[in-house]
Amino acid sequence: MKGKKIILGITGSIAAYKAAYLVRAFIKKGAEVQVVMTPAGKEFITPVTLSALTGKPVISEFFTANDGTWHSHVDLGLWADVMVIAPATASTIGKMANGIADNMLITTYLSAKAPVFVAPAMDLDMFAHPSTRHNLDLLRSYGNYIIEPGVGELASHLEGKGRMEEPDKIVAFIEDFFASRQELAKKKIVITAGPTYEKIDPVRFIGNYSSGKMGFALAEECAMRGADVVLIAGPVSLKTNYPSIRRIDVESAQEMYEAALREFPESDAAVMCAAVADYAPDHYSDVKIKRSGDDMVLQLRPNPDIAAALGKIKRPDQVLAGFALETDNEEENALLKLRRKNLDFIVLNSLQDSGAGFRCDTNKVTILTARGVRTSFDVKPKREVAADIVSVLSGNMKSTEE
Ligand code: CTP
Repeated sequence: MKGKKIILGITGSIAAYKAAYLVRAFIKKGAEVQVVMTPAGKEFITPVTLSALTGKPVISEFFTANDGTWHSHVDLGLWADVMVIAPATASTIGKMANGIADNMLITTYLSAKAPVFVAPAMDLDMFAHPSTRHNLDLLRSYGNYIIEPGVGELASHLEGKGRMEEPDKIVAFIEDFFASRQELAKKKIVITAGPTYEKIDPVRFIGNYSSGKMGFALAEECAMRGADVVLIAGPVSLKTNYPSIRRIDVESAQEMYEAALREFPESDAAVMCAAVADYAPDHYSDVKIKRSGDDMVLQLRPNPDIAAALGKIKRPDQVLAGFALETDNEEENALLKLRRKNLDFIVLNSLQDSGAGFRCDTNKVTILTARGVRTSFDVKPKREVAADIVSVLSGNMKSTEE
């Protein structure tokens, strides 16, 4: 953290008193801190305390009233290596999510080019409200990092989730970020995600329940660690706004196959996370197929196996990973797939485990490598599962370089 330039945004929460400890911790680590406060933030902690700790005047207004100096939020946004908003109230989170730039902190946020960390602080009911959850999801989708609040006694004397994370934990979170950030710098990683749709006629298709969440979480995790990601996505309703993720939208397995084959030779690694339809209708009807009353037979033909095709052209300096969703003989089947497709490792989802697989926000995986290493993880949110998988990917990529 030495020499890092940090903008600390402080908003109107009782937890604002902890911001003084946060400033002190950043300064002790050798960082330079510029505090930006909302008007409500100043009701909870005086700017004098904060400017004494940082050695810089606190910025809160667009102009300094006595001499008319304009504070450029654009310059400030460019100056920072990182922006931290702690404590972040429900109101500030809502304004950030929706671009309501009515104070210096929000304009600075909208101008910031640096990674942004948000440490929410509010009462448990406010934190649990769907609007807060939705706004936090929006911030995540903009590539911001949410430092989840802790559980404990709140200013209202109620017990629950909403207490701003402790300053030393916030510092540790950001230190970890700087440590892991460049791990995948200059690496190009291809990720397939979501289902494929195989057209039957203009209104019908064969598809599956894959949401694409796991693949998108992987893409964002790789981007966070500095990689350039090519995300080849089947039809999903997800959005991602990371500048280093190039998204290629496809519909069918054939389109996904062509995109993957085009991108892979220039890549350092590929993770095959898509639930690709194994078969497609042999014949596409240009007109809607009418009900005839009789039984109907749909002739299917096999789709290309994308992972296996990449496995065939894989060079020794490239890493290829796949997923296996199994219902029985899980590890045995996963290892067969790993060999058949020439993968470096395979991520096994067992449908026997609750909280794993399609259509949920959590997953439980076991990773099996071609070198015979087996690692089993607990049920976790897909974002955390993505972090585990990318750590294994990064380790494999390092060993191909050695
Ligand atoms: N895969 C792929 N192209 C296909 C089918 C699968 O790239 N046409 C990839 C998936 O993205 C996953 C891995 O291969 O990484 C295993 O997918 P899965 O559907 O479990 O395996 P299949 O080979 O289709 O075997 P089966 O459906 O018989 O279990």
